[in-house]
Amino acid sequence: MIGENGQRLLERVRPLLEAMGRRVDEVTEASPIIGRNLNGEIVFGDGDRVFVKQLGGMAAGERHARSVSFHECVRLADAGADLRAPALRAAHAPSVSLAYEWVDARSTFAQSIREVEAETDEVRRAGRCVAALHSLEVIDPDAIDRSRPMFPPAGPNAMSRETFYGSTMGQLDMWRFIQRDQPLLDALNLLVDRSRDGRRTPAHGDLRADQIFLTAEEAFMLDWEEFRLGDPARDVGAMLGEVFYHRLRRTIVDASMHADELDDADVVRFGSEAIDTSRPLAQAFWRGYRDRVADDIVDAAFVDRAVSYFGWQLFDRSLASGTYFGRVSALDRALAGIGREAIVGSDRYGAVLGLDDLSTQEVTA
Ligand SMILES: Nc1ncnc2c1ncn2[C@@H]1O[C@H](COP(=O)(O)OP(=O)(O)OP(=O)(O)O)[C@@H](O)[C@H]1O
Ligand SMILES: [Mg+2]
Repeated sequence: MIGENGQRLLERVRPLLEAMGRRVDEVTEASPIIGRNLNGEIVFGDGDRVFVKQLGGMAAGERHARSVSFHECVRLADAGADLRAPALRAAHAPSVSLAYEWVDARSTFAQSIREVEAETDEVRRAGRCVAALHSLEVIDPDAIDRSRPMFPPAGPNAMSRETFYGSTMGQLDMWRFIQRDQPLLDALNLLVDRSRDGRRTPAHGDLRADQIFLTAEEAFMLDWEEFRLGDPARDVGAMLGEVFYHRLRRTIVDASMHADELDDADVVRFGSEAIDTSRPLAQAFWRGYRDRVADDIVDAAFVDRAVSYFGWQLFDRSLASGTYFGRVSALDRALAGIGREAIVGSDRYGAVLGLDDLSTQEVTA
């Protein structure tokens, strides 16, 4: 019996299922999954199971094309065993929808980082996966997007009209915070310039720890809407940001069990505790990455850019939660504060994350 929401989902993905060679009347289960897009799980009478996604919001057509292009790039190149993503079963451009092989995850990378004793082996494995992506050979130069990502904002009109009207009050608060801060704007402009001028590789562009699935043996990366030829330091920084973000969330959730209210001073103290517990994980990720990636990808300024992107990821996290809560919380302000420090002082902040003593040669040893 398929419920009302399931029926609605099926209506939307009917052409997609047809592109897959399936019919709606073969479906036995259809359950929506929460996300930015219209997502769901669909099971057919013969047991076949897929994850479906109909893109909504800004630039859906471009995001659809990029998602498809990832699988095309992998198909053309010899990707190697470390690069794993759910197989694309069908894509239907007119309805901006996608169907993927269903992956049964043991846990997500986000859950794994939040464990009391996060396993450095898993973090290292994630580093290898990201390195495998950056090592993907581009066989067809037309099969990959080369446009500049929308974020971080750069240039005199950092925030487009579209972004402005698409933002919640909480996000606008955060934007105001960014726009009034000239050293931060200068550092972001510099970062975007450096990323454009440096060596570019296939890159995910929107890595989040909850978008990495861990099975017993493998790590699957999901959600390729921002896949393009980009700065590899961006993905590395995003992952380091994710490690810290999930450690900090964990610390704050634990603390709120024992106290009714947390003030800003508490949040700052938890920030430094989370940095301490993140450091060995950040180092493990970096080791895994360096083990697998070619030396010429990691240029002299790579760590600096990665640290800036670490900072940007914290901003991005606080902007995203503005979407859901409408107001900027103490946690979000702490993320933005630490994020700012890392972006503006990326040359010093590498040491805080424990990346300073891991030079190119030492790491491969
Ligand atoms: N192939 C898959 N197999 C099983 N579950 C999946 C698969 N792909 C995605 N999911 C689940 O659905 C969630 C949302 O997927 P995805 O990130 O692609 O969509 P989204 O609309 O961008 O959602 P979000 O806003 O959470 O990023 C994932 O975090 C994961 O839990
Ligand atoms: Mg997603």
